[in-house]
Amino acid sequence: MTMTEVSQVYVGYLVESRKDWSLNIEQGVLVIQQNRIVFRAKVSELEYVLEKYNVARNDVTVLSSSQFLMPGLIDTHIHASQFPNAGLALELPLLDWLEKYTFPTEAKFSRPEFSVEVYNRCVRATLDSGTTTAAYFATIHRESSEILAKVCLQLGQRAFVGKVCMDRNSPDYYVEKTEESLAETQAFVNKISELGGSLVNPIITPRFVPSCSRLLMSELGRIAKEKNLHIQTHLSENKKEVEWVRELESDCQTYAQVYEKCGLLTRKTILAHAVHLSDQELETIREYNSGVSHCPNSNFSLKSGVCDVRRMKNKGVKVGLGTDCSGGYSSSIINSMRLSVLASNSIKLSKELGLGEGAGEGEGEGEGEGSEYIPLDYADSVYLATLGGAQLLDMEENLGSLEPGKLADFLLVDMQGKRETTPFGHESIQNFVHKFVFLGDDRNIVLVVVDGKIVKDIRNMQNI
Ligand code: GUN
Ligand code: FE
Repeated sequence: MTMTEVSQVYVGYLVESRKDWSLNIEQGVLVIQQNRIVFRAKVSELEYVLEKYNVARNDVTVLSSSQFLMPGLIDTHIHASQFPNAGLALELPLLDWLEKYTFPTEAKFSRPEFSVEVYNRCVRATLDSGTTTAAYFATIHRESSEILAKVCLQLGQRAFVGKVCMDRNSPDYYVEKTEESLAETQAFVNKISELGGSLVNPIITPRFVPSCSRLLMSELGRIAKEKNLHIQTHLSENKKEVEWVRELESDCQTYAQVYEKCGLLTRKTILAHAVHLSDQELETIREYNSGVSHCPNSNFSLKSGVCDVRRMKNKGVKVGLGTDCSGGYSSSIINSMRLSVLASNSIKLSKELGLGEGAGEGEGEGEGEGSEYIPLDYADSVYLATLGGAQLLDMEENLGSLEPGKLADFLLVDMQGKRETTPFGHESIQNFVHKFVFLGDDRNIVLVVVDGKIVKDIRNMQNI
């Protein structure tokens, strides 16, 4: 370290998840240099830390009794191009919704000015809600997808940006030729790499099996392998979709097997939804160390089904959270956190009421005694939004907790941020986290740091 290097030092409650999904909460000192967490110590060691890092006492950020630090939230599945539709058009099921609302909206991104406006608003809004890393679907348009990547860089959000690929079963006004889709993907990948820096990366994005020919998917798999890129797509979201895939790809036994055959299952593959999977498909996903983006808001809003995350955990499948905005009406991952708990509760209820289907496809997957199903709780939701997302992205070494050595992506949460969460005085720190999951919003996220840079700071604003 040189004397001129600026360190950020924070003292207060540090909230994060352990690998076993439990919460680890302790008071401590966190030191940030450049884009990394470089040191973590007990509060009693503060003097030593200040000396070691040459920081004046006045420059330390001392958290108040209503504040805590936590890792930045990771949205592993969001359609930035659908942001204008958030909160709209949710009366239809998936396939009708795509045709009637979603494809017409995405087609508008052939216009750069429209892209600039929407993408700025989407990235600003998700940063404000604490999303420090996002895996984005843009649209089929290369130029517009590049605009999204540039906006993420400008506003300082870590992101994987995907130019969407689709060459079949799509409207004439929103479809590509196979060769064109591949060439544009190659050009997009090259362009994003030229932007420089590690904050924003391209991600290979075949929309889903019904929209993509086998040739397109296999070639995309080849590009991903050649360049060691992440991959994102949709899997088994809705029963009609699953049926359609069975008809389209009758030589494959399962939906997941189509992706397997095309080389699209890797340890860097995000499979969104995965609501209606057989045990065999889960096993395939686990074998490849791919993982699932759980999108509870979308699964409820589009009436797709209820994804059984407990079952996935028990089977050793990686799981993170997604908003799937605008299939999900909210672009805030805090909303996905609370809905992941409610989705899990609904599975428990279905099992208790003997409703079968909604109870998830598997049987007796709970961790409790006998066949008792233990639903996810607020602590599990913190795991899914942080360390779970980091694992899903194969970035556990760098993201998802407040351990030294990891990238400095974190939030300062203040329960004073809004009237509903303002402490009464009796709450424990665990209570604060619980309330944050169920009642928190962007007003509670008073500071957002991505890659060591402050990208939101409302500490001196009165929000209530
Ligand atoms: N499956 C294919 N495309 C989409 C999409 O845009 N949203 C959702 N939720 N599912 C999809
Ligand atoms: Fe989606």
